[in-house]
Amino acid sequence: MRDFRKKIFNILAWWVSKRKLLRLMDTQDLDMILEIPNNFTGRGFYSRIHAEQDPFEIRELAKLVSSKNPKVIVEIGTYKGGTLFIWTRTNPLAELIVSIDLPGGQFGGGYDIQREKLYRLFSYDRPNLRMEFLRGNSHLIETVTKLKKILGDRLIDFLYIDADHTFDGVKTDFELYAPLVRKGGLIAFHDIYNMKPNHEVRLFWKKIKQNYHHREILGPATKTGTGVLFI
Ligand SMILES: C[S@@+](CC[C@H](N)C(=O)[O-])C[C@H]1O[C@@H](n2cnc3c(N)ncnc32)[C@H](O)[C@@H]1O
Repeated sequence: MRDFRKKIFNILAWWVSKRKLLRLMDTQDLDMILEIPNNFTGRGFYSRIHAEQDPFEIRELAKLVSSKNPKVIVEIGTYKGGTLFIWTRTNPLAELIVSIDLPGGQFGGGYDIQREKLYRLFSYDRPNLRMEFLRGNSHLIETVTKLKKILGDRLIDFLYIDADHTFDGVKTDFELYAPLVRKGGLIAFHDIYNMKPNHEVRLFWKKIKQNYHHREILGPATKTGTGVLFI
């Protein structure tokens, strides 16, 4: 009986959440798109989409990324789907978007498999866009292998790294996935300015930026910071 009630609750939660999100998504305006992750309130598994982002920084980054018209986007670290939503809605020419996230991972906690349904809805009006979800550890070779299989002979146009924020964690993500980014593509790191304990992206950023043409996007009162490498 309890399982049955749970099932009915989930069906209703999905129905209500889907309706609400579809209504909100009816816009092409960048500022409105950026507001949606924090305004949306769904139900159950689909209760929130949230972006852990400084408003100035994510706006600048979204503008920069969309100016390049990326076709292949890979995000490492999705959590409540905020940035995944933004990449999906601000890049109309995207053909493949891949989210990599570790269930129960540090610095957020990943997402339940049920959430994939919500994340797929981000591209409901884009039949040419394929979304893939790799719920696993980005540091494992098997995850890289799965991604390579999904990519086929394509390279990544935009890689977003916002997962394991330790020095070794972000370094590993860079070393494993940067070779899959095409020349002319972008790699962005979140939290290049974050001073919280255990947040060491700034240390890796300080080293890696020296080797590339790069840009630092820092909001006026930033506690996070975004760094972009031009490959
Ligand atoms: C800060 S959250 C991502 C936030 C998201 N980019 C946004 O702003 O909307 C970081 C995510 O990285 C994931 N993560 C941490 N370590 C990971 C790893 N080794 N492999 C894959 N994902 C990882 C966590 O599970 C968490 O969901």
